[in-house]
Amino acid sequence: MLLDRWETSLLLWLSLPYIAFALPPSNNGDPFFAPQSSGSDQAKTTAFIPVQEVDYHWVANVSIGGQEVLLCIDTGSSPLWVSTQAGNSNGRVYAVDKSPTAKPLPDEKFNINFPHASASGIVVEDTLALSSRSVVLKDFALGVVDQSSGISEPTFDGFIGLGFRGSSPDKGILDSTPTFFESLMPNLQSPIFALDFSTKTSDRKGPSMKFGGIDPTKFHGQLASTPIDRSTNRWTAKDITFSIRGEQMDESADMSFDTGGGNHIYAPLSITSAYYSQIPDLDMRWSSNLGGNNCTIVIPCTSQLPDLEMHIGNGTARIRSEHMMGESLTGPANPAWSLGYGNLCVPTLQPGGGPYPGRNCLGLLLVGAPFFHENYVVFNQAEPSMSYAPYV
Ligand SMILES: *[C@@H]1O[C@H](CO)[C@@H](O)[C@H](O)[C@H]1NC(C)=O
Ligand SMILES: *[C@@H]1O[C@H](CO)[C@@H](O)[C@H](O)[C@H]1NC(C)=O
Ligand SMILES: *[C@@H]1O[C@H](CO)[C@@H](O)[C@H](O)[C@H]1NC(C)=O
Repeated sequence: MLLDRWETSLLLWLSLPYIAFALPPSNNGDPFFAPQSSGSDQAKTTAFIPVQEVDYHWVANVSIGGQEVLLCIDTGSSPLWVSTQAGNSNGRVYAVDKSPTAKPLPDEKFNINFPHASASGIVVEDTLALSSRSVVLKDFALGVVDQSSGISEPTFDGFIGLGFRGSSPDKGILDSTPTFFESLMPNLQSPIFALDFSTKTSDRKGPSMKFGGIDPTKFHGQLASTPIDRSTNRWTAKDITFSIRGEQMDESADMSFDTGGGNHIYAPLSITSAYYSQIPDLDMRWSSNLGGNNCTIVIPCTSQLPDLEMHIGNGTARIRSEHMMGESLTGPANPAWSLGYGNLCVPTLQPGGGPYPGRNCLGLLLVGAPFFHENYVVFNQAEPSMSYAPYV
């Protein structure tokens, strides 16, 4: 799933469930894979790659057929695809005809259909390398967009889906084709990937991720862990409960951990209501002019927000107040959205799920950037499970 900063682009990207990819079956099982250094497909490896945060998404350089593009790391979808039209900050694009290793599959096409936009293209097998050059996948099948309409170009060129196969529901052949991570897995030391998406900059080289291993110097204490419910095809943890200032709420929720979720935590309406009701005299408004959904909470940026405690598996993730306020709507950057009073913010905790009468909310319960800003997070595809601990 990819959710934008707020829901301007939400309606567009929310329709990722309509994605229909057609990828070919793998050639006799796994694509060829080998760590570049050894050339041996027996060696087990890990791969560290630097990433960059852009508007609450994380992007990484990936080389496809020798051409470097910037792909968005998305645990909420499963295909890997690239647009030939996107304009990332470097103006780089992937051109099939400039790749010596590209093998277009003439009989395979893919389509992405949004309510107000669409994209379509071809399926190509090509060589894929992470920027570390420590892992290379040959003949990996990916989607290449060659036509689109109504899609505003984001600051990246496509997606690396790190969700489970089928998390961008595909009715066809994608369900029998290994994802990027499934293709890497047999050659990694562990069937995991770990995200260091901290915003802390001192003593750090910036955000990064690691395939196949954990870096224990990045987090405090022990990792807490929760099983992942595979029945949803997403990285969904069951029975998450919440407390505010130590006071536990009754309701629990099953929520997905989604790096494409934008700067939001989408929780049940009862939980968001309980959270905001803790703040005395809060001037809370429901916005209808952000995507017209009557489901965006807007508050004065000067509000004093409490920490949110999320009890996930055998641990508790604290989302501190500073990660609860979100972004300002007013000011020079967003003149059109100013509602004409005070300094308004879209806090990060927003209602999702439903249906709720009179409101058209995001139909999913998602945990996005605020959680990844606070916690080192490890996804284990084999168990499957998700582990986390606060950054050092
Ligand atoms: C991606 O590559 C470009 C050009 O080489 C570089 O400027 C940029 O910092 C890289 N980004 C990341 C996240 O590695
Ligand atoms: C949580 O459980 C996992 C395994 O189930 C264990 O390895 C870990 O130490 C536990 N973490 C805490 C903080 O209790
Ligand atoms: C927004 O939701 C409230 C509460 O359900 C409802 O009373 C109101 O009519 C809705 N407004 C719009 C514009 O749909």
